[in-house]
Amino acid sequence: MMKLDSLIHGALLRLPPETAHDLGLALLRIMPPLSFVSDENVKVKTRFGILNNPVGLAGGFDKTGKCIRQLEKLGFGYLVVGTVTRDARKGNKRPRILRRPDEFSLVNAMGFPNPGIKQFLKNVKHNKPRSTPTVISISDEKIENLIECYKMAQEVAWAIEINISSPNTPALRHYFQLEVFNDLVQRIKERRIIPTYLKLPPMTSSEEKSRIIDLAKAWWEAGLDGVTVVNTLPVIEPKLSTGTGGMSGRPLFSYMLNSVKTVYVLTDGELEINAVGGIFSGKDALLAIMNGATTVQLYTALVYRGPRIVAKILEELLIELKKNGLSSVEEARGIVLRQQ
Ligand SMILES: Cc1cc2nc3c(=O)[nH]c(=O)nc-3n(C[C@H](O)[C@H](O)[C@H](O)COP(=O)(O)O)c2cc1C
Repeated sequence: MMKLDSLIHGALLRLPPETAHDLGLALLRIMPPLSFVSDENVKVKTRFGILNNPVGLAGGFDKTGKCIRQLEKLGFGYLVVGTVTRDARKGNKRPRILRRPDEFSLVNAMGFPNPGIKQFLKNVKHNKPRSTPTVISISDEKIENLIECYKMAQEVAWAIEINISSPNTPALRHYFQLEVFNDLVQRIKERRIIPTYLKLPPMTSSEEKSRIIDLAKAWWEAGLDGVTVVNTLPVIEPKLSTGTGGMSGRPLFSYMLNSVKTVYVLTDGELEINAVGGIFSGKDALLAIMNGATTVQLYTALVYRGPRIVAKILEELLIELKKNGLSSVEEARGIVLRQQ
């Protein structure tokens, strides 16, 4: 089985990225569940429940809500599905994903292809996870549409992730004006039933950093639950139909770590943090957790390291905990910054 996995994974990496993605998901349908790493020491407590492990699937992998049952077989502690908008979208023209294998990164310009919130929630209900907590990622340039998605998605999900940080939808930038953002926060706060996270972009300049800090602070002061850091980094990529895209994978790791530390210190560890960006190993995951993350999420590592990524990360994580004299993931959280 192990050999077959690696062979299939190797073959998929030779196909165009979107073809490989769709084929990989189709193959998962017929694959038996992979063996799980089950260990009390990797369990984590989050606002949306106790997770078997802290490794989540990042937003964007299942944009339809149709693949939850397949993705559950990979052993993730939780899944983020979407991003979904109020109305269906086709997304940008292909090619809209590119691999940069030398640096273990991807550049994408998907542009939110999705079936629209109504159909998406129908799909999720049809493919209800057996046991894995599922977070729905929502977005929309229009605040009224975003709130409509928020109300509807809360009826189905364990938690909500609000994505205002995709670089492929420039019209989302208006949410970064404090007045507009405060309006959003107020409306979310009034309607919040389940834990709600804000997905933020990487901090690329000191000006951007102070703006993002203002947003995280407003989110925290409103009593909202947490943030997911970070979304992809805007880059120029002439090989994509749009000429630009968002970069994910290894090069994002330092941006992610910087954001995790900043938010943890800013909010005294009160805002829950999901770390995402360049997490490929147990060592990466533990570093993010020791700097304040409650969970980690990944996307690009699944593409490059294959379907056993969660099991591999958890095995490595247990070894790394021991090496650092720590007994559990819970004990590790924020330890670097608490000791300073
Ligand atoms: C092809 C692709 C599509 C993505 N789509 C979304 C999306 O719809 N919503 C979202 O919040 N993030 C999306 N992301 C960003 C990821 O959720 C994640 O923040 C980013 O890839 C960094 O993590 P990674 O380095 O583990 O991939 C996408 C990433 C990729 C590579």
